[in-house]
Amino acid sequence: MTGFKHEPVLVGEVLAALKPQAGGRYLDGTVGGGGHAARILAASAPDGFLVGLDQDGMAIKAAGERLGAEFAGRFELHRVNFAAAREVVAAGSCDGALLDLGVSSPQLDRAERGFSFQADGPLDMRQDQRQPVTAAAIVNGWGAEELARIFWELGGERDSRRLARAIERERAFRKIETTRQLAELIERESPRGGRKAHPATKIFMALRMEVNDELPKLAAGLEACWSALKPGGVLAVITFHSLEDRMVKDFGRNLARDYEVPGEVDVPELRVPKTPVAKWPKGKAILPSDAELKANPRARSAQLRVIEKLN
Ligand SMILES: C[S@@+](CC[C@H](N)C(=O)[O-])C[C@H]1O[C@@H](n2cnc3c(N)ncnc32)[C@H](O)[C@@H]1O
Repeated sequence: MTGFKHEPVLVGEVLAALKPQAGGRYLDGTVGGGGHAARILAASAPDGFLVGLDQDGMAIKAAGERLGAEFAGRFELHRVNFAAAREVVAAGSCDGALLDLGVSSPQLDRAERGFSFQADGPLDMRQDQRQPVTAAAIVNGWGAEELARIFWELGGERDSRRLARAIERERAFRKIETTRQLAELIERESPRGGRKAHPATKIFMALRMEVNDELPKLAAGLEACWSALKPGGVLAVITFHSLEDRMVKDFGRNLARDYEVPGEVDVPELRVPKTPVAKWPKGKAILPSDAELKANPRARSAQLRVIEKLN
């Protein structure tokens, strides 16, 4: 066994949204350790079928072991980016699709993956280890202006310029190759003071999002998962970052609108009528219950949005 331990979030809420049924076909674009997938397969017994995708080879192996033990013959797994879901899932073939974004607990917990400032490891952060660009390549290769831009835009780091310049100075002296080196540099430049969060939290998040091209892949992934759905199918997306949530919200709103906005600005007089192709069964984001927040700290910033394809 791979020892892949990840507590899935918002499980009851995801099942309530997807309503898995016998004979149904489901797409899990972020299968991870198979936590949500197992629940979807159990709820769609005896013959519901699930296609699971993940870009991380370790996740695909763990999901295969977990699901294979209980649901052999009722699932298939592909190591692909969900942005490329169209390559493995036929258009209009699924009753439900799930994206549970971000990192898995094992990705964070294994020092050698380089996602965490809590443990020392190579500055890597690739979810798909077949891709060439690592966090070290960005930290040591990009100009201070570019680094500051991603620290601010993706991490919301207010000290982005100063920290980027500190990185530039440090790497002129020696390359920054480990998570500890980077975390200690940020901590020296930006002491923790009374703050609860580690001062490198936002820098690490921004780097992870850049290394894995997360926002552009999400835009493509939403389109790909949407096209995989049958009429009446449901797309459920769990986000952990406000920029991701905004993308999902805008995506759903555009589909559910009865007009197009020609151009950049929405001028009501210029709107062009169109037939809505989606509805929001719940307009607002669904948040974890207090009990879940207590039991699973990873659920803290999770938000679920659900979009239904109209017939
Ligand atoms: C939060 S975990 C999912 C956990 C899963 N729902 C479970 O219950 O075990 C997110 C997973 O999505 C994968 N992932 C993130 N972005 C991806 C993308 N663009 N394409 C494919 N997999 C992605 C990560 O490798 C990780 O395994």
